[in-house]
Amino acid sequence: MRILVTGCCGFIGSHLVEYLIHHTPYEVVGIDDLRMDGDQIRKKTNLSLIQDLERFSFRNENICDTKCIEEGKPHIVIHLAGLAGVRESVVSPEKYVHNNVFGHTHLLKQSILHRVQRFIYASSSSVYGWRSQDGQPFCENDPIVELKSPYALSKYTCEVMSEILCQTTTSTKIIGCRFFSVYGPRGRPDMAPFRFLERMIHDRPIEIYGDGNQTRDFTFVGDVVRCIHLLMSVPTKQTKSIYNIGRGNPVSILELISQLEQLLHKKAEIRFLPVSSMDVPMTFADCQQLLQDVGYSPQTDLRQGLSAMIQHYHHQTATKT
Ligand code: UGA
Repeated sequence: MRILVTGCCGFIGSHLVEYLIHHTPYEVVGIDDLRMDGDQIRKKTNLSLIQDLERFSFRNENICDTKCIEEGKPHIVIHLAGLAGVRESVVSPEKYVHNNVFGHTHLLKQSILHRVQRFIYASSSSVYGWRSQDGQPFCENDPIVELKSPYALSKYTCEVMSEILCQTTTSTKIIGCRFFSVYGPRGRPDMAPFRFLERMIHDRPIEIYGDGNQTRDFTFVGDVVRCIHLLMSVPTKQTKSIYNIGRGNPVSILELISQLEQLLHKKAEIRFLPVSSMDVPMTFADCQQLLQDVGYSPQTDLRQGLSAMIQHYHHQTATKT
């Protein structure tokens, strides 16, 4: 079995490649253009961790024009590449449409054409848009009403494109994963957990957009890659077109900082900035559907996940010096 992973040098992608190589006998091909979000150093570091793994091969390519499906004939495509910043997406919305929507559509079309068995792609909790903090979890079939950012729109457009194109195939099963605030070792430096951690370690102030009472359903990357692996093998009849992949336990930004303070044994210096109009006030995954179909949903609690992230950060800094 051959698996293609797009965005293999990104955060979730590099963890997934490691997981698949260590837990399955599959051959894994990874593609990444190493420059989509200008974060080349991090991506090259991630590549150095996976490039020598047995049964793994790397192609330096862009998802918008790659021929890797036609040439490599993978059985399963796991599409994780894309531009991922919520607030940044308003600066160059056209790049988000191009990379996310065009890239997704190109890969999906090729997958259908070449009869890929399963196409699993990254969507986002941001497609739920603005929801009041009423304590109710988000279900996959909830109506999508108020998207807040070009990023969220690009991800939702990919979902709708998938729904439409899936009607043209009986051979390719298409599954979208709505990931909820994925964090952990090698986490994205623009996202709150890593950004706060790095600033606190270096005694630099943290900036909070708004009052810090916005909540996120932080989900550990190790749990996420396990879910993707399980979704690769669920019997087709049993699978749905969209799954929430989240822990189901929202935590406020202030609580996230408090947990980091306890783990790092230091007080954060906080600056409050105006709330961003791109931001949603909360995310909260209902994972009943995932649990029912794959028999598992993310479990790692925030403290445990943050400890792993801190440990990795210290280890990485020690090996660099
Ligand atoms: C994140 C990712 O960037 C998306 O790629 C992903 O699709 C999405 O989560 C998701 O899981 O659905 P976002 O919620 O904006 O989007 O994640 P963060 O950048 O970690 O921000 C979380 C919260 O912390 C936001 O309310 C943000 O305003 C706040 N924040 C972030 C700060 O107050 N200060 C910061 O320095 C960074």
